[in-house]
Amino acid sequence: MSFPHLDSITASSRVLKVLSDLHVEADAEGPYLNPASSLDKFVTLDTDKCALVYLLLRSTGARYVVEAGTSFGLSTIYLALAVGQNATVAGGSGKVIATEQEAHKAARAREHWARAGPEVEPWIELREGDLRETLKKDLPDQVDFLLLDIWTPMALPTLKLVHPHLKKGAIVVTDNVESAKDGYQELFEYIGQPQNGFKATSIPFSGGLGFYVYLGQE
Ligand SMILES: C[S@@+](CC[C@H](N)C(=O)[O-])C[C@H]1O[C@@H](n2cnc3c(N)ncnc32)[C@H](O)[C@@H]1O
Repeated sequence: MSFPHLDSITASSRVLKVLSDLHVEADAEGPYLNPASSLDKFVTLDTDKCALVYLLLRSTGARYVVEAGTSFGLSTIYLALAVGQNATVAGGSGKVIATEQEAHKAARAREHWARAGPEVEPWIELREGDLRETLKKDLPDQVDFLLLDIWTPMALPTLKLVHPHLKKGAIVVTDNVESAKDGYQELFEYIGQPQNGFKATSIPFSGGLGFYVYLGQE
């Protein structure tokens, strides 16, 4: 199976092989039904969304990223590749804060990152447990990018924890804002309140991809 979106990614053959292998595995799993039935599933971002997120991070030079949630760590590989490449170009530091509450998923994610190797693994800090606790402290002062790929009731609590750390111009991407829009009503209301400082649009990928830019008070 070939994955044309990988042409957009700068990475070694080792990393590209891991990405390709994991997408094959993810494609073989059944459709997402609900959280309870997805404990053994990647429920990963679609490939075009992975490429977009990687390119957004590269184009903005993002170096501090929060991912909610991580599952088996496939999307995290794209984030870490971009952060590592940006940090190397800038000659500075960078980090992806990944979050996963299921211990067996976190363990699988770590295995995948180890397989991907030094372009990926060193750039990830995985916080295991409920992100409503694990993101309460020790966030970077300036978060460049937040990937909200989480069960819908967790989206707003996550954003509220990360919001005070978002740098001006930070991007927040949220998956399935059309297909799961009923579950996102509180998030949409929060994003839409002018005092919260966001501007919003969406991208018509499958299920809809929410695209929010934090501009603060202008
Ligand atoms: C859609 S999946 C993430 C997929 C991943 N971003 C990818 O593209 O490969 C959502 C993950 O969030 C995790 N999750 C749900 N609620 C959580 C919480 N409160 N704290 C931490 N992780 C949570 C789930 O266990 C699940 O693995």
